[in-house]
Amino acid sequence: MILVTGGAGFIGANFILDWLEQSDEPVLNLDKLTYAGNLESLESLNDDNRHIFVHGDIGERNLLASVLAQYHPRAIINFAAESHVDRSIHGPEDFIQTNVLGTFHLLEETRAYYASLNDADKASFRFLHVSTDEVYGSLSASDPAFSEITPYQPNSPYSASKAASDHLVRAYHHTYHLPVLTTNCSNNYGPYQFPEKLIPLVLNNALNGKPLPIYGDGSNVRDWLYVGDHCSAIRAVLSKGKVGGVYNVGGDNEKTNLQVVHTLCDMLDELQPKNSSYREQITFVKDRPGHDQRYAINATKIFNELGWRPQETFETGIKKTVAWYLQHQDWVANVTSGEYRNWLTKNYVERAA
Ligand code: NAD
Ligand code: TYD
Repeated sequence: MILVTGGAGFIGANFILDWLEQSDEPVLNLDKLTYAGNLESLESLNDDNRHIFVHGDIGERNLLASVLAQYHPRAIINFAAESHVDRSIHGPEDFIQTNVLGTFHLLEETRAYYASLNDADKASFRFLHVSTDEVYGSLSASDPAFSEITPYQPNSPYSASKAASDHLVRAYHHTYHLPVLTTNCSNNYGPYQFPEKLIPLVLNNALNGKPLPIYGDGSNVRDWLYVGDHCSAIRAVLSKGKVGGVYNVGGDNEKTNLQVVHTLCDMLDELQPKNSSYREQITFVKDRPGHDQRYAINATKIFNELGWRPQETFETGIKKTVAWYLQHQDWVANVTSGEYRNWLTKNYVERAA
């Protein structure tokens, strides 16, 4: 079996669902169930004994040791993280706790577990660390896209904490020969994304008649990748990636935030029309402190070495995503109760003022 951490979050849940659609190999899912973790995303697996859920923190060493000894996974895929830049600006401590210390504890227990394996199991074991393009910092319009050798220049507490975790993963390979793999992926979108991130937040606000907040002038650029394509890239790296290797993953879909929001409004105008265009709800609000201007990914290495290609263009992926959110308003309603409201007050009331 494989061990997935953070499997109740956006990408982890998509990964588990995709994995079990394509394979009968069981998945052990270790997740702390923070505000971003939601087992409802995995509801379709409720009666499926190939999915085993363990409620826990990647920083809990005793729990990790017993889970590894009991289930004997052949691979660990580490999705668990605090993942939202704005939250890292309001409160960086959880990011250090989970992304830096949590990854460290997970690596330590993995190292002990790896040492206990026989030679054949050692040869096939992998630790795959899921990371982000944000570790490379910010590009200007004319800069070349990030490659695997672009120097790290993280700018937010989130990206700095992910950069620290990437460095630890690298060091555990170099020093202890732990068979690690790292992926650095661009912005994901798709089903089950928590509506604090741009695309689901805009869809949710649009449908509820609320302002669509654009930070600054909306000219910041992100490279957008459909989550299913990220999952297929992770599977490719897990099965064929070179041990110790780093792979950038991207969709070659650079868009300004304003372009993304216009696209979403135009799709809603078509699918759920009302008296006026959803574009009229767009509001420019105070910029994010230290807001990175542009991310772009050079994915030549994973293309050439592993033959991976994204299946979705932005146009096809966003269509699926909007349709999913329109059909899953119950899921959205459930995840936006409670804590989510406090977050909206914290992040947006002050900005609007
Ligand atoms: P998410 O915030 O939706 O989910 C994170 C999951 O991790 C949640 O289920 C949460 O409960 C769990 N978690 C948090 N702290 C934990 C801990 N200490 N122990 C165990 N579980 C814990 O995040 P996501 O968008 O699914 O991102 C998953 C990973 O992919 C992260 O490592 C993130 O840095 C990386 N990534 C995300 C994107 C993106 O666009 N979302 C892009 C590139 C890389
Ligand atoms: P986000 O989805 O938070 O991802 P990241 O910061 O990791 O790239 O934001 C994507 C872009 O959208 C980013 O440039 C910030 C911007 N943004 C807004 O303009 N308004 C919002 O309400 C949010 C959440 C993000």
